[in-house]
Amino acid sequence: MDFKDIRKEFPIYQNIPNLVYLDSGATALKPKCVLDKMNEYYTTYGVNIHRGVYALSYQATDEYDKAREIVSKFINCDFKEVVFTKNVSDALNKICLMLENDLQENDEVITSELEHHSSVLPWMKVCQRKNAKLKYIPLNEEGRITVENFKKVLTDKTKYIALTLVSNVMGYLTPIKEIIELAHQRNIMVIVDAAQAIQHFSIDVRDLDCDFLAFSGHKAMGPTGIGVFYGKKKILKQLQPIDFGGDMNEEVDLYNVDIKDIPYRFETGTPPIAEAIGLGRALEFLLELGLDNIQKYEKELHSYALSKLDQIEGITIYNKSSDVGIISFNIDGVHPHDAATFFDEASICLRAGHHCAQLITKWLKCVGTLRASLYVYNTYEDIDKFIEVVKQTVDFFKQF
Ligand SMILES: Cc1ncc(COP(=O)(O)O)c(C=O)c1O
Repeated sequence: MDFKDIRKEFPIYQNIPNLVYLDSGATALKPKCVLDKMNEYYTTYGVNIHRGVYALSYQATDEYDKAREIVSKFINCDFKEVVFTKNVSDALNKICLMLENDLQENDEVITSELEHHSSVLPWMKVCQRKNAKLKYIPLNEEGRITVENFKKVLTDKTKYIALTLVSNVMGYLTPIKEIIELAHQRNIMVIVDAAQAIQHFSIDVRDLDCDFLAFSGHKAMGPTGIGVFYGKKKILKQLQPIDFGGDMNEEVDLYNVDIKDIPYRFETGTPPIAEAIGLGRALEFLLELGLDNIQKYEKELHSYALSKLDQIEGITIYNKSSDVGIISFNIDGVHPHDAATFFDEASICLRAGHHCAQLITKWLKCVGTLRASLYVYNTYEDIDKFIEVVKQTVDFFKQF
């Protein structure tokens, strides 16, 4: 598929024609269809859901339900297994807190140094509270999680495994299916952070057989303020919600509350209605583009960028074999924040720092990296402009 004309779908390019946006790992740009869908909600039926006994409220409830249906089809699960949250951080925290009850002293939780803070910090805190042990899969020399190395930390005491599906710094795809298979042989639950995967790969939670999987809408061209967690029905049914309040209960009396069925028991208060509806449209848009097409185009752009970067002396690229269009690099001897100002001056948006994943930047033995993350709306011209600024920045700092 040719993505030549795709920028027409993204109003930000009409407003900032010279924008070179290489920060899709932080958040993706939003297509017009998503903005229109949200605007339609606010301008034609923008009322609350589940409460009103009038037509507009039924319509809003219907659209909200449709969004959940789209998500469930997108990741291949049941409608009831999809819970809306604020973002993936919120989702991962909720999952962790709900599972905390079953974590005992001396139990072990396996994670990795590739995790975003949102995936590892909730478990770090829970393990501290419970006197449980957090264990890290040793990364191989490239910085990848391997099944071999996973086996080295798997023990009879392992209770949970919390792993990223794609690293936001290295772009590596975790061999999660094999890990889940091994985990399930020992009745261990696996929680997957799919924040950097959902926008690139087809995800089938039934095929993966993961117990939980979470992502944010905004990295998949949806709005901010909406995230999702999937949980297996039989597990969700046994969990107590973290938050209590309106709309998550059936019956309340003086000393008791009878909570609703899944997924509603996990969504208290007025949810992000427009955002859920917008996310539904974003996922439809991804399907219209075709995830395979997105991946193929991104790969071509990524190879092109790498081939150009390879010719520049004075830079270090940390993840040449990335599985998605993420390039983490540094200008040798230059702090990434100092280098980033050169890109900003050229209207090139990229990220500099530890990317909320300090464990991997420490593993790489650097204070942080520059990160260019590519997506469907990027062009070969974007890459050329980016390469030009890399060269200029190297030349500038060479003088000192
Ligand atoms: C792998 C990964 N997990 C979690 C997050 C947190 O996402 P959010 O800020 O939308 O909660 C990010 C954001 O960059 C991420 O890349």
